[in-house]
Formats: sequence, structure tokens, C-alpha cells
Amino acid sequence: MSSEPLLAVEDVDAGYGETTVLRELSMSIDEGEIVSLVGRNGAGKTTTLRSIVGILTPTSGTVTYRGTDVTALEATETVRRGLALVPEERRIFPELTVEENLELADYGGASGVDSLSVGEALETFENLQERASNPGSSLSGGEQQMLAIARALVGGADLVLLDEPTEGLAPYIVRDVMDIVEDLNDRGITVLLVEQNVRVCLELADRNYLINQGEIVYEGTSAELEDDEEVLDRYLGVTV
Ligand SMILES: Nc1ncnc2c1ncn2[C@@H]1O[C@H](COP(=O)(O)OP(=O)(O)OP(=O)(O)O)[C@@H](O)[C@H]1O
Ligand SMILES: [Mg+2]
Repeated sequence: MSSEPLLAVEDVDAGYGETTVLRELSMSIDEGEIVSLVGRNGAGKTTTLRSIVGILTPTSGTVTYRGTDVTALEATETVRRGLALVPEERRIFPELTVEENLELADYGGASGVDSLSVGEALETFENLQERASNPGSSLSGGEQQMLAIARALVGGADLVLLDEPTEGLAPYIVRDVMDIVEDLNDRGITVLLVEQNVRVCLELADRNYLINQGEIVYEGTSAELEDDEEVLDRYLGVTV
């Protein structure tokens, strides 16, 4: 028996107004995987995430989640089904306390993996517990990333889409965020990790997709990608 993927993106075109950014983009994620989408500035990574969760509607192609066509659904609906986007700008409410930020995420809608209560989320993230009564604006960049991820867990997400979670963070905080991503996955949460930092992907991901100018140009396991110097150099300009 071959089980269907948790998420399947098939031949998606999407863009802004007259501009097509994504071209026949296909990727799939099985339940329990960490899959990366890695590419340079402007490659179309954020546009891909927006198209999956329904902030943008693809102009052609399909997005299927748990076997259901969600292509035309709005983000307010996909979030109820268990998809959660943690955006690049780590959207939290700066004027509310850490605890209030978590309480607001607790709309109790999503299915699948059991969601965390606000108390459990605070226990899970020690740094947040210590700052539970402080305003969101007082958190460091790494702590804001933790809070944004914790909000997805309280909301009952079972597929978390992380848009460059390590961007702009000091190396030791990058390590903390990577540990959190692994911890999420250990809890049974499936992760789509968008990164420009391929080293983070190679360490965390089961499989990796490379995106260049709106097209998937490579797919492989981390072991395969790590050995493919030509692909790394051509699309990412890095040697690992
Ligand atoms: N709101 C928008 N309106 C018009 N064009 C946009 C909009 N957002 C992004 N684009 C364009 O779409 C293309 C892909 O952008 P996207 O944000 O998806 O890239 P990205 O891979 O996430 O880049 P980065 O690593 O800088 O976050 C770029 O050419 C960008 O200029
Ligand atoms: Mg982006």
C-alpha cells in the first residue's frame, strides 16, 4: 500500500497581478518528514508558502492536503485544517504579553496532532516561560521566533511552514532554533522549512528541494545534496 503524501503541490503557477513567479512547481511532503525548500533571494520561496496556505491562489495547478483539494481555500480555512505558516517577519503581537500571544493562538480548531495548551507551550519553551508576563516587543529575535513557533503549536498545527526561521539570528541562537525544529518533528509535526542557509537544511531535512527563478531545479536527500557540489555551486553559490 502506498500512502498518499500529507501535502502535494502539483504543477502550480502563481504570482502577483500580471507577474508569474512560480512555474509548474511540484513538491510533496509525507507525514512526519522535515522537507526543505532552499533557494536564493527572490527565488520564490515565500511565494510558494503563500500559495500553499492560501494567501495567494494559484492560477493553475493544485494543492492537496490530506487528500483534499485546498487550492482555492483561504488561509483562514487552511489554518483550521492544521496548516500553519510562521512568516519571515515572525508575526507576533508586540504590545501583548508572551502569554497573551499564546492565548490568542488558541482557537482550538485544527485536527490531527494534539495541540499544546498555553501552559504546556510555556513549559516547552523555557525562555518564554521566564518572560510570560513581558510584552512581545521585549523578546530577542530568537525568542520571537520561538514564540511564533509556539503559537503554531497552541493553534494545533500538524504541518508547520517555517519561512527562514534562522535569518538574522546569531549562530548560537540558530542552534536553539534548529533544536526546536527537531523537537517539533519529534512531537509528530511535519515541517516544511524554507531557508537560504543550506547548511541548516542539510542538518535538519530528510529531503530538500532547490528553487531557482520560480522552478524546482533539484530534489534530493541531504546526503545526496551534500555530495552534489555542482548543484550547490550553481544554484546556491556555496561549497559545503
Ligand atoms: N507582493 C509582491 N508583488 C509583486 N511581486 C512580488 C511580491 N512579493 C514578491 N514578489 C516578487 O516575486 C519574486 C519571488 O519573491 P519571493 O518573496 O517569493 O522570494 P523568496 O525566495 O522568498 O526571497 P527571499 O529569500 O528574499 O525571502 C521576486 O521577484 C519578488 O520581487
Ligand atoms: Mg522570502
